Amino acid sequence: MRRLKRGVLIVFEGIDGAGKTTHAKLLEEWLRNEGYNVTLTKEPTDGEIGYLVREHLRRKDFHPATLALLFAADRMEHIEKELKPRIESGEVVISDRYVESSICYQAADGVDAEWIESINKWALNADLTILLDVDVQTAMRRMESKVRDKYEEGDFLEKVRNIYLERARRKGYSVIDATSPLMKVQMEIRRLVLQLMKEKW
Ligand code: TYD
Repeated sequence: MRRLKRGVLIVFEGIDGAGKTTHAKLLEEWLRNEGYNVTLTKEPTDGEIGYLVREHLRRKDFHPATLALLFAADRMEHIEKELKPRIESGEVVISDRYVESSICYQAADGVDAEWIESINKWALNADLTILLDVDVQTAMRRMESKVRDKYEEGDFLEKVRNIYLERARRKGYSVIDATSPLMKVQMEIRRLVLQLMKEKW
């Protein structure tokens, strides 16, 4: 088993239908085969608060600021119970969504972005944030058969995408064109991760 001095947190971001879950799983398998101790996790989590959030995304009944608080509370438990202990013990942790999802989705839903940042201030910084970027038409086609939650509508996702792209430019996140063939996208992800690992040995 390969040991890192300190674990790392790799985050996948992007609009619904970008392929985060598929790529996070492929990366997890590859890193495990390479001998790393890996955990794949996600937000909203499968915990009590994550469950509550999903329920209200389906019912579309909560105020967007309430959702922002719930996402932040879900994240707090996620960080304390899972992310911190795993990173401290040297694991590679991959999270399917993290703080940027709150900033981009809830800001697109009318919540003040600075306030969202402030209620997420205590969150650990990710070592690598990868934005999988797709146009909304492609994303909607990928979700065609799905029952749509609160945020899974074209006009809304267009706003979210624009905020993601603008923030990625400002914060220096890695943006990958996720309309490319699956393995081409995955190889680009692995290249970024290898670069990060080299810095972390
Ligand atoms: P999603 O990644 O689709 O999770 P799952 O497939 O497990 O239901 O996330 C559900 C929705 O929640 C998605 O539309 C994005 C949204 N979301 C936010 O609006 N803010 C957040 O902080 C997070 C983590 C997700």
